[in-house]
Amino acid sequence: TLIAAAMAALSFTAAQAADLGGAHLKVGSDTTYPPMETIDPATGQVVGFDVDVINAICERVNCTAEFVTTAWDGIFGALQQGDFDLVASGVSITDERKQTMDFTDPYIIVSQSIMLRVEDEGLTIEDFKTKGLKLASQTATTNATLAEELVGRDNIALYDSFATAVSALQNGDVAGLVIDGTSAAAYEKEFAGELIVGITGLQADPLGFVFQKGDERVAAFNEGLAAIQADGTLDALVAKYWGT
Ligand code: ARG
Repeated sequence: TLIAAAMAALSFTAAQAADLGGAHLKVGSDTTYPPMETIDPATGQVVGFDVDVINAICERVNCTAEFVTTAWDGIFGALQQGDFDLVASGVSITDERKQTMDFTDPYIIVSQSIMLRVEDEGLTIEDFKTKGLKLASQTATTNATLAEELVGRDNIALYDSFATAVSALQNGDVAGLVIDGTSAAAYEKEFAGELIVGITGLQADPLGFVFQKGDERVAAFNEGLAAIQADGTLDALVAKYWGT
């Protein structure tokens, strides 16, 4: 009877576990955002932290994910139109976005940073205002909002992607770049000796995966996320991308 009871408890747990029935999910993503999502030039595949986290969640809740590259500008409109099932693109959970879309629980919290050219190390936020320097970011991001708050509308320069904003920093069109610290770290590594994370500890953003409002799969994703948090999978992925 003891074994029968244990078996019953097990099958009850199994029946309770979220199961998306092997659903194939399309995941919209602006894949120009290392190390969250980029296209591996060798294979053409989308790779990165978000991809790994989504795949780990899918393993738990029985789904498969196909990343679909899309521009950041219009990404949420495309989600609303049903072009994909969810967005995984390093998206900050904000009150404004929550009015029209549903987010999972946060899968990481990132603090924003300002990147500078190495030779400008020591530049302060005040310098941008007093010297009329330009601070770049990607349009329609929380980073762009923060950039404007920090230095004012006249001193910001907004780009369609972080890739183009980083080029602008490299070629001197702008003097700084506001970006999630997780990506700043990746760019600092990629452009070692050229770009640095100059100012850290700015506004912290929780990141979540985004579904259309009312999508019941959010609950399943939260269960999957809780499972990969509980068993160390998520920590291992954080270490893979940002560990020393
Ligand atoms: N976390 C910021 C935001 O949600 C920036 C995200 C940018 N993501 C991207 N794939 N370009 O506004």
